[in-house]
Amino acid sequence: MPPDSFAVLEADHITKAYPIGDRQIAVLDDVSFAVAPGEFVVIMGSSGSGKSTLLSVLSGLDQPSQGRIYIDGVDVTDWSEDRLAPIRNSTFGFVFQSFHLVPSLSALENVAFPAELRGDKDGRQRARTLLARVGLGARMANFPHQLSGGEKQRVAICRALINDPKIIFADEPTGNLDSKNGAGIIDLLIQLHRERQTTLVLVTHAPDVAEHAERIITLADGRVVADEWKVIHADSQRATVN
Ligand SMILES: Nc1ncnc2c1ncn2[C@@H]1O[C@H](COP(=O)(O)OP(=O)(O)O)[C@@H](O)[C@H]1O
Ligand SMILES: [Mg+2]
Repeated sequence: MPPDSFAVLEADHITKAYPIGDRQIAVLDDVSFAVAPGEFVVIMGSSGSGKSTLLSVLSGLDQPSQGRIYIDGVDVTDWSEDRLAPIRNSTFGFVFQSFHLVPSLSALENVAFPAELRGDKDGRQRARTLLARVGLGARMANFPHQLSGGEKQRVAICRALINDPKIIFADEPTGNLDSKNGAGIIDLLIQLHRERQTTLVLVTHAPDVAEHAERIITLADGRVVADEWKVIHADSQRATVN
């Protein structure tokens, strides 16, 4: 299929298989969908259903066994790591369950780091603005071990936003947080998505998180078993539940 020209991201018949003994086990099986700019998509599914693998393949951290990935309509499936890495750094922001902050860097340095990788001189200033926005104005000089889980995740969200990415990928960002802090992180991600019009692809297996979504894609055993929009868009096709 040709790429959807309006999509910021598209998976086209993606399969990911791993060899187990002399057999190939499909972790992703014929997954296709397109994400429009500014959309908020929740990916749900039980543990082991392939959510993290899908995010890795969508974001170019891993290659599909079959199928194509398009970013802004460009087929990047066969791009080398050298060619893809700078695209990933400028186009995508990542938020992980386990925060992935650099322990030896302060909150401010962690946030500014992806900007400095690009030689961006304003990175520090934008990092300060972002940290103040998420309520960490007084914690910028603190190191990760001096911050609570919720604070670390807010730092990670600022880091994901520093290069003004088109897409934020969040893989179970509340998985290591208690329910109150987890709810705060989801609210923050949704607020930032609205303020900045950033596309948000949020993986979770918590049903309450999905209540906030505009669209829910459900995986089971590596297959898309539901792709539902909650809001009826003007384009009737978009309201179809399939
Ligand atoms: N490198 C790998 N080799 C073999 N199997 C893998 C590998 N990575 C993931 N898997 C398997 O793929 C399935 C989906 O994993 P994952 O994408 O992490 O699921 P989820 O994020 O939904 O919990 C699991 O059964 C897991 O064991
Ligand atoms: Mg996972």
